[in-house]
Amino acid sequence: MKISVYGAGYVGLVQASCLANLGHDVVCAELSVSRLAALAQGKTPFYEPGMDELLTGELASGRLRFTSDPAVAAAHGEVQFLAVGTPPLADGSSDLSYLLAAADTIGANAPDDALIVTKSTVPVGTGKKVAAQLRSAALKAGRSASFRVASNPEFLAEGRALPDFMEPQRTVFGVADAKAEAQLREVYAPLKLGNDRTLVMSVESAELAKYAANAMLAVRISFMNELANLADATGACIDSVREAMSLDERVGRKFLNSGCGYGGSCFPKDVTSLVKQGEMAGTVMRIADAASEINIRQRVAMADRIISLFQSRGKAPVGCVVALWGMAFKPDTDDVREAPAVLMAERLLQAGFAVRAYDPQASETGAAELAKYTNFSVASTAMEALADADVLLIATEWKEFGQVAPADVARFMRAPVVFDGRSVFNVAAARAAGLDYHAFGREHA
Ligand SMILES: NC(=O)c1ccc[n+]([C@@H]2O[C@H](COP(=O)([O-])OP(=O)(O)OC[C@H]3O[C@@H](n4cnc5c(N)ncnc54)[C@H](O)[C@@H]3O)[C@@H](O)[C@H]2O)c1
Repeated sequence: MKISVYGAGYVGLVQASCLANLGHDVVCAELSVSRLAALAQGKTPFYEPGMDELLTGELASGRLRFTSDPAVAAAHGEVQFLAVGTPPLADGSSDLSYLLAAADTIGANAPDDALIVTKSTVPVGTGKKVAAQLRSAALKAGRSASFRVASNPEFLAEGRALPDFMEPQRTVFGVADAKAEAQLREVYAPLKLGNDRTLVMSVESAELAKYAANAMLAVRISFMNELANLADATGACIDSVREAMSLDERVGRKFLNSGCGYGGSCFPKDVTSLVKQGEMAGTVMRIADAASEINIRQRVAMADRIISLFQSRGKAPVGCVVALWGMAFKPDTDDVREAPAVLMAERLLQAGFAVRAYDPQASETGAAELAKYTNFSVASTAMEALADADVLLIATEWKEFGQVAPADVARFMRAPVVFDGRSVFNVAAARAAGLDYHAFGREHA
């Protein structure tokens, strides 16, 4: 099948490469010169396990091509996937300008009756806006072409993007006509998706389903963070509370960790966009709003605790080093968009601390965010970051951090003060090694 993809970001590049791998003839348009330069050399412009090998293989097969000209992609596909960014605007709503710009090019150039599918996360009602944009662009170009519009929201998680594509937990087709459903089924046919996990619904329901899933996870995280703060204030331990909660099958185990909040390019913007969508529709989304508000405080709370600790001890931050373990918003990615680590680093740097950071994959992307601070530096190993530090702040739960013995942490640091924002250490082991150990909800462990 001839397929076009717009955007070679975390979503578009995975979609384009995996569809090529399924045997489709794919043209992917990307506007970023630096991303295209990396792709031309067969290099993934970001870290995603397995992507380099997949990309190289599909480029060699000839089934995957990149172009800087969206009109070239528009002229190609019978099915066209929009995977461009939908970043937040200042008021929390979604910026649809990239999406509508791509729709303009498609309207002017795509084959008649092409199916235009939104993969980007977009507010409910965007399908109709895309359809209107396609119509007006076709009209402006003097064409009588008409297009069909569908929604196929992306549920991949960075760091697991390829397995998530090849074996999705569910696939959602938001369609308005039977032909669109048949075409989407044909696109994914080689995956042999089970009928129980392939959900067909209206375009609007598909658009909302994506926000609903992300907001539910964000709510769980913020609720656990509130509970952790209550545990600290009342003498309980969040680890015991979580265990008791999670053995109830109705609650389950996942997304019950307390810590320094959620980040990334999806949860923060999707939750605020949902709140905004409610506002526009006259339906207040109070729970999503609260989750977002709690998270805004939580993601910098540990930096504030460090600053307060120094103030209470009458110690000036200047001349003190905070070792920062982790900059990515979560493990197995180099994505630092909205990462709590970066926000905390900024707070500490502005307070006068020197911050020495290490991340297995996100050192470069993190350093680019913090380059303007002369008191920021990057270490090439976790232990190098730790050498003679006055505080260790753990902001990302990379596996390797939990494998460091607390005794080694104590030995390497000038003062063994540890703020474990992701609860990677065992509390008893940390305290037995002599660490002055702090973690959300574990003060009374
Ligand atoms: N990153 C994730 O884990 C994830 C998961 C699910 C859904 N999403 C959603 O998918 C969408 C894309 O996310 P992302 O993380 O891949 O974004 P991204 O910023 O990494 O990539 C978007 C790319 O689109 C390109 N672009 C913009 N306009 C274009 C155009 N007209 N033609 C061609 N390319 C164009 C940009 O240059 C950029 O490289 C967003 O709506 C996001 O919310 C992301």
